[in-house]
Amino acid sequence: MSIFKHHAKIETNIFFMAVGILLTVVVGGLVEVIPLFSIESTIEKVDGVRPYSPLELAGRNIYIREGCYNCHSQMIRPFKDEVERYGPYSLAAESKYDHPFQWGSKRTGPDLARVGGKYTNDWQVRHLINPRDVVPGSVMPGYKHLSRPLDYADITAHLKANRVVGVPYTDAQIANAKKDLEEQVFADPASSPAVAASYPKARIGSASGKDKVTEMDALVAYLQVLGTMVDFTTVKPGAFNR
Ligand code: HEC
Repeated sequence: MSIFKHHAKIETNIFFMAVGILLTVVVGGLVEVIPLFSIESTIEKVDGVRPYSPLELAGRNIYIREGCYNCHSQMIRPFKDEVERYGPYSLAAESKYDHPFQWGSKRTGPDLARVGGKYTNDWQVRHLINPRDVVPGSVMPGYKHLSRPLDYADITAHLKANRVVGVPYTDAQIANAKKDLEEQVFADPASSPAVAASYPKARIGSASGKDKVTEMDALVAYLQVLGTMVDFTTVKPGAFNR
């Protein structure tokens, strides 16, 4: 107990106080940092998470270009109210192929981490063209201009760039990028297209109904895959299957 007798001395002497604080921070820091050296990755492996298909990746680029992240987050926090509103909380693995990640920091609109499959393609298109057509009173701006053709001449380079920063695209996926992109829009889902085998759960079909690939097709394909890769009936947060 003797150390507590000197407590007043430590608290009133700036030198002892500084040394005490330093010691506490060093010990606390080491306890946090040392265990990390013994594990390969800080991200738990979760079944189902895969790189974006070329069309989804193009849509993600549009999402970033249009600044959707200024109003929408993609990060469901592990709080009761968020989980009840949006679904299972976000796992680190779900954004491991996002470069840069889209967690966001502002929610003027709702979180979009699990918006995939919540609405039909048709709803998404109508909402993006003029949100007030489907949600009266919405303050979200319209994005009518996204009905124009998508410029995907450089999609192969986008996949390659993602591979450089660690997204495990295979050589075949890179070689087929353009073909996969077009197939995801125009293939008949009943014909088991190759893109569906390469990118499970990718939504096949044109969102805009046009005969050219539009920016809308890409953005909607991206929105529709958000939060759908992991099957939460088998994966329980907190008990990952490694
Ligand atoms: C100025 C802020 C703002 C911007 C920018 C914005 N949104 Fe929204 N968004 C909202 C608001 C507010 C809502 C809720 C009302 C509604 O559904 O329209 C919303 C709703 C949505 C929804 C429906 C979510 C749900 O769960 O019901 C989607 C999908 C969506 N936005 C996508 C986008 C995309 C994609 C972009 C970029 C192209 C974008 N938003 C840009 C404010 C914004």
